[in-house]
Amino acid sequence: MSSGRKDQHVDLADAQQQDRPAHNDFDDVRFVHHALAGIDRERVSLSTAFAGIDWPVPLYVNGMTGGSARTGEINRSLAIAARETGVPIATGSMSVALRDPDMIGTFRVMRDENPGGFVMANLSADATPDDAARVVDLLQADALQVHLNSVQETVMPEGSRDFSAWPGNLAAIVERLEVPVIVKEVGFGLSRPTLERLAQLGVAVADVSGAGGTDFARIENARRAENDYAFMTGWGQSAVCSLLDAGDAAPGGIPDLVASGGVRTPLDVVRALALGAHAVGVSGVFLHAVLRGGEDALIARIGAWLEQIAQLHALLGASTPAELARTDLLLRGDVREFCELRGID
Ligand code: FNR
Repeated sequence: MSSGRKDQHVDLADAQQQDRPAHNDFDDVRFVHHALAGIDRERVSLSTAFAGIDWPVPLYVNGMTGGSARTGEINRSLAIAARETGVPIATGSMSVALRDPDMIGTFRVMRDENPGGFVMANLSADATPDDAARVVDLLQADALQVHLNSVQETVMPEGSRDFSAWPGNLAAIVERLEVPVIVKEVGFGLSRPTLERLAQLGVAVADVSGAGGTDFARIENARRAENDYAFMTGWGQSAVCSLLDAGDAAPGGIPDLVASGGVRTPLDVVRALALGAHAVGVSGVFLHAVLRGGEDALIARIGAWLEQIAQLHALLGASTPAELARTDLLLRGDVREFCELRGID
C-alpha cells in the first residue's frame, strides 16, 4: 500500500463524514423508556471483560492508518488521545511496515505515545504467522486485529482477487500468537455463518464492523478513474443486523463480539452494547475530530462520550455494560425486515 493511497483513504473517509446519510440502522433500534428504572450514575462501572481481555471502558478507537508521514502524525494524535482518556486503540494495517522499514515509526508512535495503554496491531488475512508475530513485537501490542476486506479488495483497482487462503491463515495466526486475535470486517458486517466458521478456526473475538458508516466500496470506487463500481455502494450488513444475526453463542458457537461501523453518538454505543457487543469501536467520527481539531478535540470528544455513555447506563438501570442486555428494545424499519428475512425472533 503506497503512502499516497493511505493519505487518499483518510481524505475520502473524512469526506464521507461530511455527507453521511442522516439515518442508519442504529436509528431503527429504540429503547422502551421505563421512567422508574434508573439508578445512581455513581454506581455505574463501564469496565468490560471478554475472552481474557479486560478494558476499563467499552469504547475503543478502531484501526485506521499509518504508512505515510501524514498518517503517522494522525496516529500520534490518536495515541495521545487514547493515553489521556484510557480507551484502547488500534493501528491501521501494518503490511506496509513489513515491506518498508522506514514506515515502522508511523505505527510505533502509537505505542511510544501511549506506553501503558491497550494497543492493537492490525494486518490483513493474507498475513503469515511470522508477519503477525513481527507486528505484535514491533508495537509490543496487547492484541492483533486481522481484517477481512474482500469487498474493499474487489473494488480496489490494485486489489486482490483471491481470498481462498484466508481461513487457513487465520487458524495459523491464532495458533501462533500468544496475544488475543480479533478478526474484524472493515465496514461490511459479519454474518452468523462467518462467525461460526471463525469459531471453528479457533478465533475467540470478532468485531462485526458493519455498514452504515465509512463505506470502503465508495472510497475505492472514488479512487478508480472510471468510477465504475458505484453499484457496490451500500454492500453488506450493519453492525446492528450483524449482532442480531449472531444471536446466542449456542448451538454453533461463535466468538465473543465487539462491534463497530456507523457509530455516531454515545447512544449508538449503548445500543450496540445492549445488542450483545462487549465493546464498541469508532473510526470515521473520531478521525474527523482529529482532522478538525487535533488531539485536543478528540480528547474532549471521547471524555464527553464516556460520561454520556455512563449517564445512559444510569437512565436504563444498568450498572455495567453487560447489564444492558436486560433492557427492552424495539426494532423497526430495515432492521426489522432483516430479522424477518433471516428468521430471527
Ligand atoms: C479504516 N478501517 C481499517 N480497518 C482495518 O482493519 N485496517 C485498516 O487499515 C483500516 N483502514 C482504515 C482507514 C480509514 C481512513 C478509515 C476511516 C477506516 C476500517 C475501520 O476500522 C472500521 O472497520 C470502519 O471504518 C467502520 O467504522 P466507522 O468508520 O463507520 O466508525
